[in-house]
Amino acid sequence: MNLILLGPPGAGKGTQAVHIAEAFGLLHLSSGDILRRERKARTELGQKAQVYMDRGDLVPDDLILAMMVEHFGQAKEKNGFLLDGFPRTLAQATGLKSRLESAGTRLDHVVSVEVEDAEIIARLTGRLYCPECGRTYHELFSPPRNAGVCDVNGEKLLRRKDDMPEVVRQRLETYHRETKPLIAYYGEQGLLRTVDGIGEIGEVSERIKKACRA
Ligand code: AP5
Repeated sequence: MNLILLGPPGAGKGTQAVHIAEAFGLLHLSSGDILRRERKARTELGQKAQVYMDRGDLVPDDLILAMMVEHFGQAKEKNGFLLDGFPRTLAQATGLKSRLESAGTRLDHVVSVEVEDAEIIARLTGRLYCPECGRTYHELFSPPRNAGVCDVNGEKLLRRKDDMPEVVRQRLETYHRETKPLIAYYGEQGLLRTVDGIGEIGEVSERIKKACRA
């Protein structure tokens, strides 16, 4: 099964992707996580991407497409892939479609996780992450067992630079302008499943699994 999780920043794509990938045995590919790894390793791509990411703008399509295609091969060892944060523009979506067609495969479902802007601001401004394993927490909605440290490895939790309120506003604007049109694009192809992203994390996971089994 090949899935896309679509949704605004902070909709819970990364949180849900971990559960859904595990439930269906899928390779989880997060464009944001891959970019952050490139940035940490100070690669050429990571340094180019940093400027866009810090402003809340999208990294150029050609860089993103080349980066994502490099990782697709790993899905052969799994039951398919789950894309989180990609595609984010119509150019990325059409680029993905033609790469999949050339590889003789296709998408099965595109799940749009719906959350209003006001809730997103609350979620992102309280988000914490582990710089070592990438696990995400929220200081109120999904806190670690011990305040400020990762449950998995005890690392000190950090806030993402792009979770500052002014950058969040810019990311939301970018989402509405560039990414929201993908809802209609995938709707026309009969691939779209819409899920309410408000509620307990486990409840939202069950909704996504149900949408993918329907
Ligand atoms: P990326 O890392 O992909 O950021 P994003 O899409 O903006 O998504 P987020 O990671 O912020 O949110 P999420 O939906 O994963 O939510 P999460 O699960 O963490 O991209 C970062 C940047 O990289 C972009 O701005 C861009 O510059 C660049 N980039 C990436 N991909 C690109 C592409 N394809 N093209 C061009 N540029 C690209 O949850 C958020 C918080 O809410 C957490 O604290 C979590 O604990 C909490 N939470 C989750 N679910 C719930 C719930 N049900 N109830 C309450 N709280 C919840």
